[in-house]
Amino acid sequence: APDGQAKAPPMGWSSWNKFAEHIDDATVRAMADYLASSGLRDAGYIHVNIDDGWQGRRDSNGVLQPNEKFPDMKALADYVHSRGLKLGIYSSPGPRTCAGYEGSYGHVAQDARTFAAWGIDYLKYDLCSGEWFYSDADTVKRTYYEMGAALKATGRPMIYSLCEYGRFDVGEWGRSVGGHLWRTTGDITDQYSTMAAIGFEKNGNAAHAGPGGWNDPDMLEVGNGGMSDDEYRTHMTLWAMSAAPLLMGHDLRQTSPAMLKLLTNREVIAVDQDVKGVQGRAVYKDGTTEIWAKPLQDGSVAIALFNRGESAAQISFAPADAGLESLKSIRDLWQAADLKVGETRFNVPAHGTVMLRVRGQPLSRNL
Ligand code: DGJ
Repeated sequence: APDGQAKAPPMGWSSWNKFAEHIDDATVRAMADYLASSGLRDAGYIHVNIDDGWQGRRDSNGVLQPNEKFPDMKALADYVHSRGLKLGIYSSPGPRTCAGYEGSYGHVAQDARTFAAWGIDYLKYDLCSGEWFYSDADTVKRTYYEMGAALKATGRPMIYSLCEYGRFDVGEWGRSVGGHLWRTTGDITDQYSTMAAIGFEKNGNAAHAGPGGWNDPDMLEVGNGGMSDDEYRTHMTLWAMSAAPLLMGHDLRQTSPAMLKLLTNREVIAVDQDVKGVQGRAVYKDGTTEIWAKPLQDGSVAIALFNRGESAAQISFAPADAGLESLKSIRDLWQAADLKVGETRFNVPAHGTVMLRVRGQPLSRNL
């Protein structure tokens, strides 16, 4: 049964994309400070997630300890909470995590209790260590169920992120094991080609997404420097149109004014977080042009015009792309400007995007 968590896709920051295992207590606190002071928290980015690399050894009772880079997890959680934020952590069902640290194998319920006692609010559970773990659907499903049940048994609400790279149709059963989001692919990188391959082709089956459970095409690379501003705008647009989790993955202290503006665009975030919880999808594809639509709770429709080509292109959209007979209003979300209703032809830069929110008269027959 739904537990009331993750009614909208989770938003926040995670350590992996930028820091990998070079993460420590001071850096996590600095990220929390930045989220609170920059406006990012107030725009919705409330999760501060420690990914792989925090783990030490188990004590003589089997209780997992953080390594020397995290002297006191409970104190860190208190600090993050005092900033109005939530703390996330990471483990693996195997004996070792992907980066070779201590996993939860043989200690699943015990680790769930440890996380709850520290005040953890979010667990990413990453399928690592040994091909035997990857081999069949039942084993993987049981493995994820075991931790999901253990988290529930603690009585502390924790968002449960399933990281098994979209294997075995995880979208079909992710909710049933207690999951609130599930990865649809292997890892993103800070490159347009990887980001686009995931965002356009591997963002999961839209039928699986909705309040309480989301396809996760992986964390954001916005701000890491490997893409142009237009490409990062496309990244953000794809994730928002896909109702994907928005977990930033850069060193927040290095956020440029342009990237801060991109990440805090309220109207774009509102599309991602819309309570209807529909994952948008392509309604038109022709060569390097894609038009996507995402119906929103108030009856308006988010529209994205994507130019996947290497040079600028003109892209026109028709009311029918939004399931509408005719248009009453068009708003350009990246320009934060209302357009004339007749303005439906756009010049879209290479690898770029125009994102709109339109209202109008619905078609008698829905698309
Ligand atoms: C693989 C995951 O897909 C990444 O997001 C990250 O969590 C690493 N493992 C950590 O080892």
